Amino acid sequence: MSYPFYRKLLPFFTNILFTRQISNRTAVMANSKFEYVRTFETEDRCLPNTWIIVRVDGKGFHKFSADHGYAKPNDERGLGLMTYAAKAVMEEFKDICLSYGQSDEYSFVFRKECQAYSRRSSKLSTNVCSLFTSAFVYHWNKYFENDRPLYPPVFDGRVVLYPSNKNLRDYLSWRQADCHINNLYNTTFWALIQKGGLSPNDAQVRLKGTLSADKNEMLFSEFDINYNKEPLMYRKGTVLVRKKMPVTLNGVTRQKSEICETWRYDKRRILARK
Ligand code: GTP
Ligand code: MG
Repeated sequence: MSYPFYRKLLPFFTNILFTRQISNRTAVMANSKFEYVRTFETEDRCLPNTWIIVRVDGKGFHKFSADHGYAKPNDERGLGLMTYAAKAVMEEFKDICLSYGQSDEYSFVFRKECQAYSRRSSKLSTNVCSLFTSAFVYHWNKYFENDRPLYPPVFDGRVVLYPSNKNLRDYLSWRQADCHINNLYNTTFWALIQKGGLSPNDAQVRLKGTLSADKNEMLFSEFDINYNKEPLMYRKGTVLVRKKMPVTLNGVTRQKSEICETWRYDKRRILARK
């Protein structure tokens, strides 16, 4: 009987097996040798039972908005796209009970009980910020004529924790007050330039030291603009909440959670929601 063919291959397989064993052992040794670097990673879990807010803000949007021909002081397309991207974030992260947006920023409020990513701060902020940014670019052509922005927009993201319901309400009031102050200033500033023919510098000088009442009066008496009739989205920003809506399918009506836009939020309903 001739020498079986497989016997000729035996040394070859033994060699592979031996080499594998050595390389596995080397890998294990190397792994244990280098593994200590993991201990340098810091623990960043958010304090339990606190409201988690992730806020994203456009980087250098003063330039980005000018480069992309945003209308002044408010661009409906730009603000609409921000809200569209925020809805994409809320679709993905079901623990977000409310979002608030104005200008180039959006705040996402996670329930106190949220356990997503074991409440790891960096995981929450980077995932939200990344999804928001990619959705902003992905859906760009739903709002603007050209296919995509001239260059990639950048948003930063941060996490802020609030222990009490009052802190959370005050946070939202703070962002909404910021929207109001900036919008009243910008509306008057651009009316002085666009309708009053002033240079940006002269408009700035004209507004220096003025109070809200002065700006309201200036808008009304000089430009026939009733500030209180300006669109709510510009004056107050946008609030996104989840609402149960009746949806009928095959004759059966069920309650389905939908993301709805508003400019105010029902404090009791949001804060009571588990
Ligand atoms: P950093 O956030 O510090 O990087 O600076 P920024 O240039 O993004 O400014 P900031 O976030 O303080 O303010 C946002 C800016 O975006 C505003 O000052 C405006 O210049 C611009 N912006 C946001 N929304 C609109 C809009 O609807 N129309 C126009 N024309 N500009 C807008
Ligand atoms: Mg910004």
